[in-house]
Amino acid sequence: MGSFSVKPVKVGICGLGTVGGGTFNVLKRNAEEIARRAGRGIVVAQIAARDTNPKCDTGATPITADVFELVNNPEIDIVIELIGGYTIAKELVLKAIENGKHVVTANKALIAVHGNEIFAKAREKGVIVAFEAAVAGGIPVIKAIREGLAANRINWLAGIINGTGNFILTEMREKGRAFADVLKEAQALGYAEADPTFDVEGIDAAHKLTILASIAFGIPLQFDKAYTEGITQLTSADVNYAEALGYRIKHLGVARRTEAGIELRVHPTLIPADRLIANVNGVMNAVMVNGDAVGSTLYYGAGAGMEPTASAVVADVIDVVRALTTDPQNRVPHLAFQADLLSDHPILPIAECQSAYYLRIQVQDRPGVLAKVATILSERGINIESIMQKEAEEQDGLVPLILLTHRVTEQSMNDAINALEALADVSGPVMRIRVEHLN
Ligand code: HSE
Repeated sequence: MGSFSVKPVKVGICGLGTVGGGTFNVLKRNAEEIARRAGRGIVVAQIAARDTNPKCDTGATPITADVFELVNNPEIDIVIELIGGYTIAKELVLKAIENGKHVVTANKALIAVHGNEIFAKAREKGVIVAFEAAVAGGIPVIKAIREGLAANRINWLAGIINGTGNFILTEMREKGRAFADVLKEAQALGYAEADPTFDVEGIDAAHKLTILASIAFGIPLQFDKAYTEGITQLTSADVNYAEALGYRIKHLGVARRTEAGIELRVHPTLIPADRLIANVNGVMNAVMVNGDAVGSTLYYGAGAGMEPTASAVVADVIDVVRALTTDPQNRVPHLAFQADLLSDHPILPIAECQSAYYLRIQVQDRPGVLAKVATILSERGINIESIMQKEAEEQDGLVPLILLTHRVTEQSMNDAINALEALADVSGPVMRIRVEHLN
């Protein structure tokens, strides 16, 4: 691996709560990989926080209780604002910009309500304000719309963009739980806003929708014009009736371009149960974006939480560092990592790859065969997850034996299959299909 001749970029983290703690941890844990992507090291030079975070070992990193000390710290190049809310956050972001610092924020309320003013100031000072984490947590949907879909005229977008609300609706539908009870759990899990009415009344979703609509349609941020209806009036009966009709109720944010204007609305919505987005459950978020060239696309992932949100914050920090470091032609390296820092980590031959397996073996229907099959697998350390024997299909005395195994190397499975195929009780080749649970 190459070394970094350029000195590291120094960042300051304001707020050490759920997202701040996650951001510190990800920057520290992935420091080397991040530097290979960014082309420079990234060092947390200071943290501003009133309290420590038990999930975050800040070591020797200097901590101040005064955010403005951090914002005025001449060493710091990038201020990461993770305290939330409108007032102090706005003041510190404007001050950071005034001081010529780049800003990364996860604050959707701040961007939706004061973004126009903040961006004007940033343009004046020639600094970047990045806010990927403000919408749908870890899902890079802002990057997808702003860069990946840049060729398109966006027609509409629709999203489940509040994890707390989606968690409540999912629990009501799946377990028949009461609204208030589920909300308490979401608060305990750290998903809910400081004021949970922001979640259940759709205000948080409207903040995010306002931002998405602006980057999709190229309009100023206009949070005050968003229609917002919450989920507090929904009953389990509605959820069940919708289900009986083949629909799911989701709290959806919809932004649609029409001839007359742009629809900007958050409200409970029935969606046909077989749509992918109708099956986004729990605290997960998903955003569908429809463009004239690409058609419909769907982005799915964790919309809140410590490290998913940190994932978006740190990606923004890397973007800023790349912009500071590399020539404009090569702002994002072709292979995502800096060209001279590509790794020689080897690609595994398939024999060394690991997978779970589905096996279908045609065996003679007689005593002891199953034991022989099981022995061959166990001798190679292959653990059987489940086993199913179907009735004989033909008059040839053969029955299909279906096995699911735990994960093993392909080499072990090749050996086992060779041994199985050599058994007199096994007819023909063993059918092998790899299984990935993707969990
Ligand atoms: N309260 C938000 C949610 C957190 O539940 O989705 C992420 O913005």
